[in-house]
Amino acid sequence: MTGIFITMEGPDGAGKTTQAKLLGQYLTDRGRQVVFTREPGGTRISEAIRQLVLDPTYGEMADKTEILLYAAARAQHVRELIIPALEEGKVIICDRFIDSTLAYQGYGRGIDPALIKTVNEMAIQGVKPHLTLVFDLEPGEGLERIKERQKGEVDRLEGEGLAFHQRVRQGFLAIAREEEQRCKVVDARKSLEQVHRQVVQLVEAYLKG
Ligand code: TMP
Repeated sequence: MTGIFITMEGPDGAGKTTQAKLLGQYLTDRGRQVVFTREPGGTRISEAIRQLVLDPTYGEMADKTEILLYAAARAQHVRELIIPALEEGKVIICDRFIDSTLAYQGYGRGIDPALIKTVNEMAIQGVKPHLTLVFDLEPGEGLERIKERQKGEVDRLEGEGLAFHQRVRQGFLAIAREEEQRCKVVDARKSLEQVHRQVVQLVEAYLKG
């Protein structure tokens, strides 16, 4: 597989999605074929699972159901979209991937990371990101940005308390420390242009090898 798989990770409201689009434009302008996608989502079935897993009315959802739903969405996404795009030599920019499960369900909910990895092995079929940008932001700030943008409406995960989101943030930072070759931390407090510059520098450094 000749493509490049870049994932964008970090707490809610850290600006990943906007930065993914800016990076996509930057790479397209330089002649790369870029595919944008997101998790949970990216395919018809995975988007249907997204609706289910983020629905705030399903407050009774068990932690293990949550893990399996994210993994199910991922299995379809990897099979239907990510592997074919990598085989076609494209650059995939994916808004969240397995690190989000480790951070939210592992660090946030306290599920054993070994269990998360076992469940996800089947879903990812050996596909791993080449580069992961971890957008770091104080969770309170991120949640404020989201509430403003969505006029107070939050999904099931965004609606978790601040302490949960603090653990998620620490989770992402721990993952970045453990896998410093693959994961690069981006300071998401900076302006849109400054963050974009950091992203471009990191991606260019990866591409130059
Ligand atoms: P998004 O709003 O950034 O697209 O992500 C959807 C929410 O789902 C976000 O709050 C993070 C959460 N999430 C998990 O809890 N586990 C996962 O594996 C993924 C991909 C997302």
